[in-house]
Amino acid sequence: MTTSFPYVPLDDKGWRLAMGLRPLDLATWLEVDERYEEELALKTALLRDNYDVVVATNPEGDDASRELLEEVRDFLHRYHPEIVLQVLEGEHPIVEASRLVQEDLCVLTKSDTWRLRAACVCFPSRWSLATKIGTTLDDIHSPVPLYDHVLARPTNAFFDRLTPERSFWRLNWTLLDSPVLHQPYGARGSPSGALADWFFRVERQTLRQLPQTKSIVFTIHTYVASAVTLRERDETFVPALVNAMESAPASVQTYKGWTGVAQQLRDALTRSE
Ligand code: HEM
Repeated sequence: MTTSFPYVPLDDKGWRLAMGLRPLDLATWLEVDERYEEELALKTALLRDNYDVVVATNPEGDDASRELLEEVRDFLHRYHPEIVLQVLEGEHPIVEASRLVQEDLCVLTKSDTWRLRAACVCFPSRWSLATKIGTTLDDIHSPVPLYDHVLARPTNAFFDRLTPERSFWRLNWTLLDSPVLHQPYGARGSPSGALADWFFRVERQTLRQLPQTKSIVFTIHTYVASAVTLRERDETFVPALVNAMESAPASVQTYKGWTGVAQQLRDALTRSE
């Protein structure tokens, strides 16, 4: 469990589906925190035992992955010189890059449209990389309720307009009944048990276009904290969470595995008052 938990993207406005993009200062492209060693060790184990679950590549993503590796090395050299850059030679460059940072890394290139061409995703939140490789933004997001109506068009347009000069980041969050970072499968059942069994999971995602290959890099840094810890830190956390969950449409609650959870949280809150 991370001691610092930098992002709690809840407010009193309730749930809404939005791109939520903010300008990114490239000095903060990737984040290094106290879980660096632990998460890199976890990646090493996953790459050894579950390589085909956590890595997927098409040849169309090779040049971009090489450029990404150089960008990651340059970034760490410049902003985190304390990190010793050791790489296992001979691996796919997106795997080499992924072994250096806590983030999951995805590369998209444009052919007929933007397609996912290389990825090393060790910490997925209940989705399968193998089913997404080579597919379009629309196909990747096909299980996401309302995406096709609300986000498909602006997201594709955003990808077309992105330049190397201006990068962006956004946050995604959910509540799960497990703190495990590697969750590639699983029905989105409702979290069970008491408040102590629930975990708030936030993804800090960045989007940037690489200057040479003009591919787009999507990074995901996953932060997990127990709901109890966040409640102890901030008494507005659970009420804001309940409000966000209750204001989400039923289709979103089902997709996220939240059906009935807001009520349970409300009950837990009442009991502890
Ligand atoms: C501006 C860019 C993007 C936006 C606005 C966006 C938005 C979203 C949203 C709203 C969800 C639902 C997640 C949730 O509520 O828990 C989602 C899920 C997801 N996104 Fe994105 N996304 C973007 C870019 C990408 C990219 C570049 C990838 C490439 C890998 C990606 C991969 C996924 C995957 C795999 C899921 C889970 C889908 C599933 O359940 O099977 N997203 N995205």
